[in-house]
Amino acid sequence: MANWLASARLLARTGGRQHRFSITHQLHSGVSVLRTQTCGALRASNIGEKVTLCGWVDSVRDHGGGVFIDLRDRYGKTQVVAAPPGSEAAIEAAKKARAEDVLQIQGVVAARPAETVKPKLATGEIEVRCESLKVLNRSKTPPFQPGQTDLPGEDLRLKHRYLDLRREPMLRTLELRSRIVKGMRDYFEANDFIDIETPILGRSTPEGARDYLVPSRVHRCSFYALPQSPQLYKQILMVAGYDRYVQVARCFRDEDLRADRQPEFTQLDMEMSFVEMDDVVGMIDGLVVKLAKDILGLEVSLPLPRMTYDEAMRRFGHDAPDLRFGMELVDCTDLAKQTEFRVFRETADGGGFVRGIRVPNGTSTYSRRGLDSLTDWVRQDFCARGLAWFRIEEDGTLFSPIAKNFEQPVLDAIKERMGAEPGDLLLFIADSWEVSCKALAGLRKRIGAEMKMYDPAEMNFSWVTEFPMFEWDDEEHRWVAMHHPFTAPRPQDLELLDSDPKACRAIAYDLVINGSEAGGGTIRIHDSEIQSKVFGLLGIDEQTAKDRFGFLLDALQFGAPPHGGIALGIDRFVMLFGKLDSIRDCIAFPKTQRATDLMTGAPNLVDGRQLNELNIAVTAPPKTENNE
Ligand code: AMO
Ligand code: AMP
Repeated sequence: MANWLASARLLARTGGRQHRFSITHQLHSGVSVLRTQTCGALRASNIGEKVTLCGWVDSVRDHGGGVFIDLRDRYGKTQVVAAPPGSEAAIEAAKKARAEDVLQIQGVVAARPAETVKPKLATGEIEVRCESLKVLNRSKTPPFQPGQTDLPGEDLRLKHRYLDLRREPMLRTLELRSRIVKGMRDYFEANDFIDIETPILGRSTPEGARDYLVPSRVHRCSFYALPQSPQLYKQILMVAGYDRYVQVARCFRDEDLRADRQPEFTQLDMEMSFVEMDDVVGMIDGLVVKLAKDILGLEVSLPLPRMTYDEAMRRFGHDAPDLRFGMELVDCTDLAKQTEFRVFRETADGGGFVRGIRVPNGTSTYSRRGLDSLTDWVRQDFCARGLAWFRIEEDGTLFSPIAKNFEQPVLDAIKERMGAEPGDLLLFIADSWEVSCKALAGLRKRIGAEMKMYDPAEMNFSWVTEFPMFEWDDEEHRWVAMHHPFTAPRPQDLELLDSDPKACRAIAYDLVINGSEAGGGTIRIHDSEIQSKVFGLLGIDEQTAKDRFGFLLDALQFGAPPHGGIALGIDRFVMLFGKLDSIRDCIAFPKTQRATDLMTGAPNLVDGRQLNELNIAVTAPPKTENNE
């Protein structure tokens, strides 16, 4: 109330017209006591009206005869002209305006002279002839201007995020994010889901990424953990009978960051009871159709393509394949056994794999030097031992420094297997299954982008299913859950839990958008016998299981319905729908690659007193530039 009155008084002091509007009107059009319109609202139909605008100075041009100010706010830009015969005071004030000052101007809407009309600008037909100008707040000289075309380094942008967020692309992205989240919420509400919040201060249940811990002051030596996801709570909600749960949930994971990972991120988290995989997948299919249509105007047809994990690895070397282009992996291990080329033959004979990709017309893009740099890249980034290549010449012969090691029939067979045409490039990796998958998937992704093999506007949605239940952890010498320990095995694989855990497949499904994992979920175990068996395989004994997630195991014994769910990465959705390269551009206040917030300086050293209250003793000196 006090603010409202203060604003009204301010307006009275500025001599502004009293505006009559309802609160609803105010909410919808950005109108307030201080302004009659936003900087994006005025059109030719407003010519002659007296208006009050507020905004930031985007630019000031003093043409001697008059001063032109582009006034900017979230809604757009309006040209304000302070020139004779207007008020002397307004002209003088306009001359003193500087970039990013916040102004309130009053004036009359006028048509722009025909030669200065800007058809691309929504307000390009008009300008406001300034009658009075009030500086609401002066800006210091900004380290960069929101409108400048050469972007400053990301660190400077993150340090002054309030300036960076004034940039049009950031504004559009945050609007997009807001629309995506609203679209998700509307969809789940329409499908009878209940939005339920789950705790942020929870119990540490190690498994998956490292936890962020919060010390308890009251309970000495004890810690809360920030949730890596609401996984256990949502399963408990199923036991409680809330058979359709949804939440826009903040998650925290202390893991190594990449372009598509943040230490704190947001999931659209959901869980359903009395369902099988098709129910969960079908629910998300419907959401994808709605979002693609509402946000991008794209028609997506159902069902979305599905492929098993094994097929994805075989055809694309990756569990989130980009299906916007082909260039699939081709297995030539059997042919490799027939050559004199040692690298191929020994790999094939030793149980390894020789697989390759055909790059259509690749010879015109990748010169000898280009191929050398691809070779260095696969060695460095994927620990491949090398890269073998063949160019298909005009006459159909295969050219390569290693071709002399191959007998003609083998070369012919390779050419046929790969479907090679003149101008194509064939690339081969001879290595273990894992390395050949990683290196070829990397090559496919890089070359697909470099050779523009797909339309960047295209959106491709698909599912990958039947992930392995377990992965072998070389460091810890034990099986770890590929998804999480509550994931149900396929019923037909139950026996494999005893005989061949590596072969056991889970009822797990990932949503893939343009080659990125955008969401993942599973059907959960709701049978305590199977759960114990899985814990056993993961090396979690009964006591440990009780200590870590006894509360869930208890709950599962009080009437657990069959259930399953999924979580979608909202930041990644925004990144993919917005065609952005970095997840940091999808978040208002993101962390750097080193998990710091450059604007606030978090994480920071805290007072000794705060530590004392928590009974925490710091045992190592703080990190500095010099003692990493
Ligand atoms: P999962 O760990 O696969 O599943 O996460 C689901 C989705 O969340 C997004 N995501 C991330 N986004 C940004 N930064 C990160 N560090 C990050 N980590 C994950 C991804 C991913 O697909 N509780 C289960 C879901 C379930 O089984 O229902 C879970 O969290 O888009
Ligand atoms: P080398 O015999 O190591 O000089 O390798 C001869 C050629 O084979 C080079 O072009 C290497 O890049 C390539 N090469 C070496 N090891 C592999 C491998 N494991 N897979 C594919 N190509 C390889």
